[in-house]
Amino acid sequence: MGHSDGGRFAVSDQGGNLNMADEKNHVYIFDTTLRDGEQALMRSLTPTQKLQLAMMLDELGVDVIEAGFPISSPGDLKSVHDIGHALKHATCCGLSRTLEKDIDAVHEALSGLDHYRIHTFVATSNIHMKDKLHKDFDQIVQMCDHCVRYARNYTDDVEFSCEDAGRTPIDHLCRIVETAINAGATTVNIPDTVGYTLPYEFGGIIKTLFNRVPNIDKARISVHCHNDLGMATANSLTAVMEGARQIEVCMNGLGERAGNCSLEEVVMAMKLRGNYMNGVYTNVVANNIARASKMVATVCNEPVPSHKAIVGSNAFAHSSGIHQDGVLKNKQTYEILTPESVGFKENKLHMTARSGRHMIKAELEKLGYREGTYNLDDIYQRFLKLADRKGQVFDYDLEALMYFSQDEDEENQFTLDNLSVLSGGKNVIPTASVRIRIGKRTRTESGTGNGPVDAVFNCINHLTGLKLKLDSFSITAKGQGMDAQGQVNVDAVHNGRHYYGSGISTDVIEASARALISASNSVFRTELIEEGRKKKDEKD
Ligand code: KIV
Ligand code: ZN
Repeated sequence: MGHSDGGRFAVSDQGGNLNMADEKNHVYIFDTTLRDGEQALMRSLTPTQKLQLAMMLDELGVDVIEAGFPISSPGDLKSVHDIGHALKHATCCGLSRTLEKDIDAVHEALSGLDHYRIHTFVATSNIHMKDKLHKDFDQIVQMCDHCVRYARNYTDDVEFSCEDAGRTPIDHLCRIVETAINAGATTVNIPDTVGYTLPYEFGGIIKTLFNRVPNIDKARISVHCHNDLGMATANSLTAVMEGARQIEVCMNGLGERAGNCSLEEVVMAMKLRGNYMNGVYTNVVANNIARASKMVATVCNEPVPSHKAIVGSNAFAHSSGIHQDGVLKNKQTYEILTPESVGFKENKLHMTARSGRHMIKAELEKLGYREGTYNLDDIYQRFLKLADRKGQVFDYDLEALMYFSQDEDEENQFTLDNLSVLSGGKNVIPTASVRIRIGKRTRTESGTGNGPVDAVFNCINHLTGLKLKLDSFSITAKGQGMDAQGQVNVDAVHNGRHYYGSGISTDVIEASARALISASNSVFRTELIEEGRKKKDEKD
């Protein structure tokens, strides 16, 4: 069956013939996990984390990677630059508003590459033009025309997006699409920015564009659907059936609000049902999907819901007796896809304190982490400590180690040095003693609380002087059974602003301390940046 085939160009319906690459049926996958996905995270990714994800997406076989929004900060510009220079297959793209300085920033990040894309956008719906931009439609058309031409001076790969196209009057949409193509846009993207449309309606918009825009055959039509009504996948595929040949997606459906269209859903739908959709196919390597999904979930600290289509832990489980009976007789009674077809494998016990550096490097390679994007010596030292504590280390432990070591690698003001806690028992007042490093100094504090975590938090707040107030606190088991580690996520408030932190350990009190210290470091960094900005403003 086609779905068990992980090859790049293979497309098949159940029992259908393989339809090898035919360019007119190639649906380009434009991945925006690092831009639309990242902008919706509670906590932004570090440049190293972005690079790791980009390299994994590149291997997954996506066609375009939107690496960021270079004008938004010098850090983002550098990150887009580094990703652009590291990608081996995918085209690197940077986002810009229809402003020359934004387009210059994408060019600054990516110039020097043989090929890159500038993605420029402006809103076209009445509500966005009037209430957000304070412009009329003629001015918007003019901005589109000018900026697409401006971007074409830098690269021959320019994408134009009509933000909130789903709520844009169709006459306006036809006119702006025609303008963008005339000005040189090679891809025109039709976003349902607020996830408002229904599949038949959204398909109708694409169909009308193909019928009414005279130069439509000069560009690739793309769609970018948000999932506010749970329609993102259906809308994107309906658009493909009407002629769209690029879908913008995020891995695991990350993204603003209810998220963007899920990469794994559209890819597997086309792989399994491509014949029903005129033989469309993508270049994504299906059996790398599970690995990519896990990596995005870990690095972004956004667990995949268990019932999530294709990548949820329950997506291939059969619970009821009738289903189990059917599957035992013939798997295909209740299984349209196998877990192996998207690359799910058993978690295996591989590693102990006797495992060498080479083995750890090889395991990281299998998990999708490429050499040069992490510090092997550091990870190996942390691995040995964990192996001493746990005895057995699983691949999910190794992933957690990667995530938290990078978090701690950032230039942190506060680091946990030592922790001891006395709790439990009748008439015992929970008491903690915490030692942290603050810059180059080390300080210790002891205190009590209404429980062991409270006692630890009181000490940390005293030591950092930040007085963070907890808004939420959660513990999740990472791994299975008694071997699991505890991951603590905190949402803490300081001066009315929310800061997020997380920590992991075999000891949940230590994980809690690490989580609060990580939130405290975010406060410290934010205040430092704001202070710098204030000083600069005063000077200016
Ligand atoms: O949702 C949206 O409209 C966007 C654009 C920038 C493409 O993300
Ligand atoms: Zn979007």
